[in-house]
Amino acid sequence: MKAVVFKGPYDVSVDEVPDPTIQTPLDAIIRITSANICGSDLHPYEGRVDFETGMVLGHENMGVVEEVGAGVERIKVGDRVSVPFNLACGTCRNCTDGFTSACLRANPSGQPGAGYGYPAMGPYWGGQAELLRVPWADFNLLELPQGTEHELDFTMLSDIFPTGYHGTELAKVAPGKTVAIFGAGPVGLMAAHSAILRGASQVFVVDHQPDRLALAEKFGASPVNAAEVDVVEAIMDGTDGFGVDSGVEAVGYQAHDPSGQEHPSLVLDNLVSVVRATGAIGVVGVYNPEDPDAATDSAKEGRVAFDFGTAFTKGISIGTGQCPVKRYNRELRDLIIRDVAHPGSIVSHELPLTDAVQGYDQFDKRVDGWTKVVLHPAA
Ligand SMILES: NC(=O)c1ccc[n+]([C@@H]2O[C@H](COP(=O)([O-])OP(=O)(O)OC[C@H]3O[C@@H](n4cnc5c(N)ncnc54)[C@H](O)[C@@H]3O)[C@@H](O)[C@H]2O)c1
Ligand SMILES: [Zn+2]
Ligand SMILES: [Zn+2]
Repeated sequence: MKAVVFKGPYDVSVDEVPDPTIQTPLDAIIRITSANICGSDLHPYEGRVDFETGMVLGHENMGVVEEVGAGVERIKVGDRVSVPFNLACGTCRNCTDGFTSACLRANPSGQPGAGYGYPAMGPYWGGQAELLRVPWADFNLLELPQGTEHELDFTMLSDIFPTGYHGTELAKVAPGKTVAIFGAGPVGLMAAHSAILRGASQVFVVDHQPDRLALAEKFGASPVNAAEVDVVEAIMDGTDGFGVDSGVEAVGYQAHDPSGQEHPSLVLDNLVSVVRATGAIGVVGVYNPEDPDAATDSAKEGRVAFDFGTAFTKGISIGTGQCPVKRYNRELRDLIIRDVAHPGSIVSHELPLTDAVQGYDQFDKRVDGWTKVVLHPAA
């Protein structure tokens, strides 16, 4: 099959690799119809986390079941399915508690949590390919309505729609609450869509990329352009000096000022400033235990010195971590089916797999208009 193979920093190629096979009775093989490029893929792409060369990339996958192992009973050949980016066993303590993001059995390294085509997430190939092997298929796969309708909406169910929603859950967004979301990348935009679906009365979205801010506005949020205004002042003014109830971090460890200079604590500091006393912050942007290329010596060791003193004094709750996709994807799917949610509206580019190299390059450079890239291996 054809697949997007990681060769080294800024070097991916579309190569012929062996087809995946059923390796345990609980596996399924999926023929991929859509596989998205994610902001998280840019971390290995930019060489900011170590990744084994030869691995197939891609953790945002959906498609049609091609083959199932002898022990797969619920999922059938021909089913259209979404594949959560968390790869989980379904029976360990964390899985049974609903934390599929911290499965204790799927990652052979022993680290909690596994995934497809991603550093430190186990040996599993990704789905930016014609075919994908899915272990524990009955547990992991989410069934979708047959056909091709809502393809671009459903393809957001594997990661960023649930992840954006998780950010708002950690931030305790509820009807009438005010919300500030930092980052208008795909995850921040999904957090904005989720906050509005959950009944927030006012949602600010901060970024310095005008094309992304325009999409935030389409979802009903108020854009705050960090290149033009002091973002803390703008949000405080916009809330009569009170601050917001909820804050979502959808940027991650490469947070930077509009000139591109990285400041690992910038967004966390901003959030502590704009979230009101007793409010809550959800951090879904990724921070790493090691980042040798970080802008500060402490951040090289994963130590991000943000204003924790003020956060404590204000009694702010902070939640973090990878999204347990299965906790939300069924209900978010049904919001798409009923035409209430439209997460696919952020897609700017649909490319055949053979154009993946260009897709990585343009999305990585945040070229104007490249807001979300979806690869269609069958095209
Ligand atoms: N927790 C999870 O389960 C999970 C899942 C998927 C992605 N992620 C992470 O979420 C983060 C966002 O992902 P994405 O795909 O949207 O990535 P992205 O890189 O496309 O978007 C990040 C956005 O943040 C903006 N930004 C940078 N510095 C900023 C600042 N100081 N203030 C405001 N905005 C700023 C950038 O301009 C960009 O638009 C990444 O760290 C990604 O790895 C986490
Ligand atoms: Zn992703
Ligand atoms: Zn498990």
